Amino acid sequence: MTKVAPSMLSADFSRLGEELTRIEKAGADWAHLDVMDGMFVPNITIGPSVIKAIRPLSKMPFDVHLMIEDPVRYVHNFADAGADMMTVHTEANGDIMAAVDKIGDLGCKAGITLNPPTPVTDFDKYLDKVDLVLIMTVQAGFGGQSFREECIEKIKYVRKWADEHNPKLEISVDGGINRETGKRCVDAGATVLAAGSSLFRSNDMASEIALWKKYGPTL
Ligand code: DX5
Ligand code: ZN
Repeated sequence: MTKVAPSMLSADFSRLGEELTRIEKAGADWAHLDVMDGMFVPNITIGPSVIKAIRPLSKMPFDVHLMIEDPVRYVHNFADAGADMMTVHTEANGDIMAAVDKIGDLGCKAGITLNPPTPVTDFDKYLDKVDLVLIMTVQAGFGGQSFREECIEKIKYVRKWADEHNPKLEISVDGGINRETGKRCVDAGATVLAAGSSLFRSNDMASEIALWKKYGPTL
């Protein structure tokens, strides 16, 4: 079964706690939390204090996508706040391998991600150290952008590596994911669909999530 991780970036921030409960009731597997620092990306979103505040409201794993420079500086704060997994960008400043190692040392699952223009081979040195690979299917920074078709090849590349070396590796996609693009990503080998706009705008989030979860070899 495919996992669905609604991105809270598209939630109503004035009611973040209720929105978290809403996605959990709708059947979400993980809550995808987008952290932006105004440096690695132009946008600024939430930090550890907000994540800590909503942590007690849900049992879902918190999938924290760190769009920040030099992430090793902050991973302990996000672990303290209740992150279950943290994903860092290969393109960010600082020692990204050290950040990946520290995330694991803190008892969290480690993820690695890269933006559409970055070659997929930049994943290579991290693949045997991470639990999650997040394939950005838009440029990180904003919700509501269109899916970048060329990223499908990256999913196939990571799927092939995972089949040969670590079948349990989670392969997530993020950006412009909807009913159609999500299906194509799963066909290419993705195991997790992170999506903001399409889920939060749907009339019936629960049925949308239920449909996506059925994506896989049989559908
Ligand atoms: C973008 C974020 C995404 C974003 C996806 O930088 O990483 O998680 O919320 O939003 P949609 O699904 O609207 O493209
Ligand atoms: Zn994200």
